[in-house]
Amino acid sequence: MKIECDKVSFKYDIPGDEWALKDIDFTIAQGEKIAIVGPAGSGKTTLIQLLDGLILPTQGDVFIDGKSIKKLAKTRDLPSIRRRIGVLFQFPEQQFFQETAYDELAFAFRNFMEPDESELFERARAVVGPFGMNIDVLRQVSPFQLSSGEKRRLALASSLMTRPEVLMLDEPTAGMDALGRAEVVSMISLLNDTTVILVTHNLEDFMTIIDRVIGISRAKKVVDIRLPEIIDNLDQLEEVGITPPLVLKVQHWFKQSGMKFDRVYYQMQDLIEFLKSNKYLKSSSDLH
Ligand SMILES: Nc1ncnc2c1ncn2[C@@H]1O[C@H](COP(=O)(O)OP(=O)(O)OP(=O)(O)O)[C@@H](O)[C@H]1O
Ligand SMILES: [Mg+2]
Repeated sequence: MKIECDKVSFKYDIPGDEWALKDIDFTIAQGEKIAIVGPAGSGKTTLIQLLDGLILPTQGDVFIDGKSIKKLAKTRDLPSIRRRIGVLFQFPEQQFFQETAYDELAFAFRNFMEPDESELFERARAVVGPFGMNIDVLRQVSPFQLSSGEKRRLALASSLMTRPEVLMLDEPTAGMDALGRAEVVSMISLLNDTTVILVTHNLEDFMTIIDRVIGISRAKKVVDIRLPEIIDNLDQLEEVGITPPLVLKVQHWFKQSGMKFDRVYYQMQDLIEFLKSNKYLKSSSDLH
């Protein structure tokens, strides 16, 4: 699915309210992994809602495979698009309402595709298998009995049941500890062909799995860079209130002091190994 934003602006229906988004332009190709970052209130969630067709642009248009989302809405054809997109809003586990974790997992797939129970079961097993979840256990427990990390994984797995071409995630690691965040990142890393558009305040967490960063500040797109160019544009991020990943800041500093790198390192541990092998550090404890 190709997604194009053409001068998209959006205003909530409140008298005197300012633009929540203004003149947003970009194209997302199938399979791209994109992080949307920006300060609180900059318009990230609004953007996700626009891309999913939950709200329509006040000005401009979103094109899905070349089709205008405004026209699709007029002809009531939006469900055909929305069926191909999975969306996970912030704290999705707060919206659990089914009796068993399995029913929670099945909910969107049952609703959208009306499969028979054996098809549903096979699909569920295929989806949760790679995530290390046991389908028989899910059939026996209430979703509320799961740990917070398991709940988030269940929500993520549910959104994959319809095999969406595009997965949109609003703050998928919000409120999680380091282990839970790593689990979510590793789940997302398995989605090779799926387009992933994720909103995050923890860019650092996702550096190994994204290939592009779009920054939004005060309703405008202020950054649109591909990795690995991000390392040379950290000031640009900081200027608009986006904290660059520490691993990149450290590397940038070493680069500026004349050190040559064979590639950009996105994980602190890898960077430390590289620095050690270059004899800049005797051991990782030298970093403290
Ligand atoms: N339902 C709504 N009605 C009116 N104004 C809204 C509504 N939702 C958001 N806004 C306003 O639109 C602007 C953008 O909000 P949005 O939720 O998209 O920001 P965000 O970047 O997702 O913020 P955060 O990082 O805090 O989640 C803000 O000024 C917000 O107050
Ligand atoms: Mg938000």
